[in-house]
Amino acid sequence: MVTGRHRGTKAVIDLGAIYHNVKEESEHLTSQQELFAVVKANAYGHGLIPVAQAASQAGAAGFCVALIDEGLALRQAGFTQPILILGVNSPLEAVLMAQNDLAAAVGDVAFFEQAAPFLKQAGLKLKIHLALDTGMGRIGFRTAEELTAALAAVNQLPEQFDFEGIFTHFATADTADQSYLKKQTVALEQMLAVVKKRPRYVHFANTAAAFWHPQYQGNIIRYGIGMYGLNPSGTELKEPRNLQPALELVSQLVAVKQIKAGDSVGYGQTYTAQNNEWVGTVPLGYADGWSRRMQGFSVLVDGKYCEIIGRVCMDQFMVRLPQRFELGTKVTLIGKNNGQVITAQKAAEHAGTIHYEILSALTERVERQYVWKNRENDV
Ligand SMILES: Cc1ncc(COP(=O)(O)O)c(C=O)c1O
Repeated sequence: MVTGRHRGTKAVIDLGAIYHNVKEESEHLTSQQELFAVVKANAYGHGLIPVAQAASQAGAAGFCVALIDEGLALRQAGFTQPILILGVNSPLEAVLMAQNDLAAAVGDVAFFEQAAPFLKQAGLKLKIHLALDTGMGRIGFRTAEELTAALAAVNQLPEQFDFEGIFTHFATADTADQSYLKKQTVALEQMLAVVKKRPRYVHFANTAAAFWHPQYQGNIIRYGIGMYGLNPSGTELKEPRNLQPALELVSQLVAVKQIKAGDSVGYGQTYTAQNNEWVGTVPLGYADGWSRRMQGFSVLVDGKYCEIIGRVCMDQFMVRLPQRFELGTKVTLIGKNNGQVITAQKAAEHAGTIHYEILSALTERVERQYVWKNRENDV
């Protein structure tokens, strides 16, 4: 995908904020715990390699990604820390993962039998983390019996597999109601009871568990959304850290005109001016990850909230302006502008989604600009 570097639209990523958020979380770790930075999905839209560098400088001991390719990109960039692939992978990729020292999440006993011949032939050993499905319903062993069978399979193939970790993922760690979390932890205890020799890594915590459930964490914190400065709970639970949001999304007015009462704006004629109105055009659209659901949301132009009118187009959208503005006037979609602020949470609420989706949806077309605003506060 081609990145748009000449249209005045960019995501400004403050690596100082990433650094701060990781450092701050690290201060809450016990001496047994390590923080692994979750950098899947292009580091939630912030940019894989720069974020990994900032997290690493702040003391992240390892990384979690979803795809083998994300792990390979980290290795190619020279990162030597442990990398865990959280997603399910084909046994056909076992050698590739082992060659690149990528640890694989495994949640299906057939994986061992199918991957072993390839590893044997290559003379390689693959690090594996057994995934436990304690209630997320996504990947992993669901009963103590299934886990027992998996442990037997691993133990039979000590030359091919290094049983490095075991983990689960909580579905509701970010909500006030803890009843389902409790059920998951009961299932977890039952399964862990059959693991006679604990592996090096036993881990359960995403950001939400790190913030609100110290008793259910294990020895790796898989730190994702908190590293980007956002509260995993949205607005339900108060964040216990001084998180600094790392991303601002900014653009500019590239066209400004006055339309007459009765004129309409955008595809499908969904907006018709009631009065003579000033309208500005902003060069960012749904192909950049700024969804059509953002129609009706207000962005900041010179510190003033201006509504997105008409449908969001593929590459542009239009806003109603309170007055004529100069071409090139800064438009802020997420972030601060002249004393006002728009959070990713607000954008998510408007779109009926979560801030994770708003940020990770930003495509490669959006130029990323990296700054280190807050770093001097920490070093
Ligand atoms: C297995 C697993 N662990 C950790 C995380 C990080 O979660 P968060 O961004 O809420 O910290 C994710 C993210 O989806 C995940 O799938």
